[in-house]
Amino acid sequence: MSWNGPPVRVAVAGKGGAGKTTICATAARLLARSGLRVVAIDGDTNPNLNAAIGVDAADAAPFLPTSLVSRRFDGPRLTAPVDEVLDRHSTLAPDGVRLVRMGMPQHADEGCLCSAHATVSAFLADLGAAAGTVTVLDLEASPEHLSRGTARHCDVLLLVAEPYYRSLEAVRLQASLAAETSIDRVAVVANKCRQQSDRDAIEEFCGRHRLELVGILPWSDAVLDADAETRPLLDFAPDDALVAAVGELVGALVPDRVEAGV
Ligand SMILES: Nc1ncnc2c1ncn2[C@@H]1O[C@H](COP(=O)(O)OP(=O)(O)OP(=O)(O)O)[C@@H](O)[C@H]1O
Ligand SMILES: [Mg+2]
Repeated sequence: MSWNGPPVRVAVAGKGGAGKTTICATAARLLARSGLRVVAIDGDTNPNLNAAIGVDAADAAPFLPTSLVSRRFDGPRLTAPVDEVLDRHSTLAPDGVRLVRMGMPQHADEGCLCSAHATVSAFLADLGAAAGTVTVLDLEASPEHLSRGTARHCDVLLLVAEPYYRSLEAVRLQASLAAETSIDRVAVVANKCRQQSDRDAIEEFCGRHRLELVGILPWSDAVLDADAETRPLLDFAPDDALVAAVGELVGALVPDRVEAGV
């Protein structure tokens, strides 16, 4: 069943290794399984969303070219219609997800990656006109996506927190930067929670900093085993508790869309 409602763009950020890519890949495929049109963007200059989603790097479409962007007074925008860019620069991934990848450094000493970030920013902005599309953007660990404005056009910024001090501090910093932007909704998702005290720590943190806690994801040995076999969690252990928890998370992030798509 197709759905033609307003687009939803979810950007996923947090400290290094918090689980951003695992969550993005699983969420994108679960959303697509519910019948939605899903675009997954790898916004990490060290790209690996393709592997987590189930696409070999050799089979992936070339990175988004920076020549696609023009700088306008309201920020970078694409020079071609977004659907045309999607047709040309995306890979059809499992469950029908369209995978798009930001550029990565090709050579040492080639300079900064501002243009690659600007291209993702433009792409995300133009996806705001793509009715019936849910976009999931996997960001790199650095808060630069907020200082550069890479994620400025997302509708939801999801901050992934592990239950330990430095991870929570990274979330606090990114939440305070996001509060200076026009991003509508900033929410925390706890990941790698092994015990009640982990959940309590994150709930206490979110309460203290007035942050919305949208989901609590469990520790999963299966995701490590899946990584060791270079297989997506969803294919390796579809009944794992982490998959079920990500399913609940996407329901909390895009509820009416998920219901409409089922
Ligand atoms: N719920 C979980 N339980 C156990 N391990 C997990 C869980 N989620 C992710 N991991 C593991 O943590 C590691 C980092 O995960 P992932 O690559 O998704 O994080 P990331 O935030 O995208 O990292 P980076 O900052 O490098 O992009 C991987 O080995 C992954 O399998
Ligand atoms: Mg990652």
